[in-house]
Amino acid sequence: MSEWSSKLGFVFAVIGSAVGLGNIWRFPFQVGNNGGGAFLIPYLFATFFFGLPLMVVAIKAGERMGTDIVKSFSEMKKGYFGWFIAVVATLILSYYLVITGWVIAFILFSLTGFTTSFGEFTSSLKPLVYWIVALGFTGLIVSYGVEDGIERAASIFIPLIFIFLAVLAVYNSTLSGFGEAMDFFLNPDYAVLMEPRIWRSAFGQAFFSLSLGMGILLTYGSYIGDEMNIPKLSVIIALSNFAVAFLGGLVIFPVVFTKGLEPSQGAKLAFVTLPSAMAGLPFGNVLGAVFFSLLFLAAVSSSISLLEVPVAVAIGRGTSRTRAIGSMLVILFMAGLPSALSYTSAGVSMSGMPFLDFIDESISDIGLPITALIIAVTFTWLTDEEITDVKTIDVIVRYLVPAALVVLMATEVVYPV
Ligand code: PHE
Repeated sequence: MSEWSSKLGFVFAVIGSAVGLGNIWRFPFQVGNNGGGAFLIPYLFATFFFGLPLMVVAIKAGERMGTDIVKSFSEMKKGYFGWFIAVVATLILSYYLVITGWVIAFILFSLTGFTTSFGEFTSSLKPLVYWIVALGFTGLIVSYGVEDGIERAASIFIPLIFIFLAVLAVYNSTLSGFGEAMDFFLNPDYAVLMEPRIWRSAFGQAFFSLSLGMGILLTYGSYIGDEMNIPKLSVIIALSNFAVAFLGGLVIFPVVFTKGLEPSQGAKLAFVTLPSAMAGLPFGNVLGAVFFSLLFLAAVSSSISLLEVPVAVAIGRGTSRTRAIGSMLVILFMAGLPSALSYTSAGVSMSGMPFLDFIDESISDIGLPITALIIAVTFTWLTDEEITDVKTIDVIVRYLVPAALVVLMATEVVYPV
């Protein structure tokens, strides 16, 4: 039976899952697209008032069930929910690894001075090579198992991520755009809070960032051996996750403002705007290499958590870890191909956008709210056992989280965009 070797190892692994492209790549452009610092208000509210209690319940449920998500749901005669979540986790991973591949390429590009642009790179077939490297690396770590693979990798990656972020934040505080970036973050235009889309994006971002709804916390919770104070550890995890997102913004925006560029660049912010801004700065190459290495460590520690969900399901059905990973890599290759090809000259698209953007948007707007709803409802309403004895947490996850998720999905219909 796999188990974490220590409390700290568990905390690092969950932070590793939470801290990812979502914090450093997605969060800054969400802030940029959603009116700047005002976005922090709904984001913090969603993170600490809704996300955190759901996190506690999911980890505790995993600890209680002590098994993979399909078996956990099967015990409540709802095995199909477990399969559904495993499929959504696999779909997220399928495109997450494509972006991880871009990140690997960008570490190399920054060292050579950004001579290749994002457009040139992605329209060639080169991203396929980096994507396969990302697939292989993720599979390799998970093949070492829970303690020697996932926990050990996270225990190295997380401290490095904080060191790299600190280095970059210190460097950025010397840039002329630093003041403007702080202003953008801390002196926001509160009028945007009246727009439902801001709240929807904030909830989507908070849940995605905390890795909620993907069965990861259930799976990771099932590897808890010793008694742990899960609410307290969850607070540490959520705070660290927020700290990385905030620092991520402080790393990106000063560079963007120093060069007089626009922060509302969408998904291109880290890959197009930032390299062009960094290229002209003192030590720009080093800065770029540190930034993309940071992004790489964050991305891999999240992708291993996503891979562990279906791998644990396969192991639970009697497969060996190595075989489970082998089959998952083949599935991920096939499922990821449309995303991997979407920016190349093959241009695979859906509803008029690159396939990768389409699947990212569908998952975060529809997939994640549904899976989070399933988890919240199953482990409060549908279980006979008490998952948490903290009344407030139970009330929030039982009533408020489902209500918020339903409202969120309803605004999608009423106020599209
Ligand atoms: N939380 C990760 C991030 O912020 C992404 C993720 C989402 C990982 C869902 C696992 C599950 O990048």
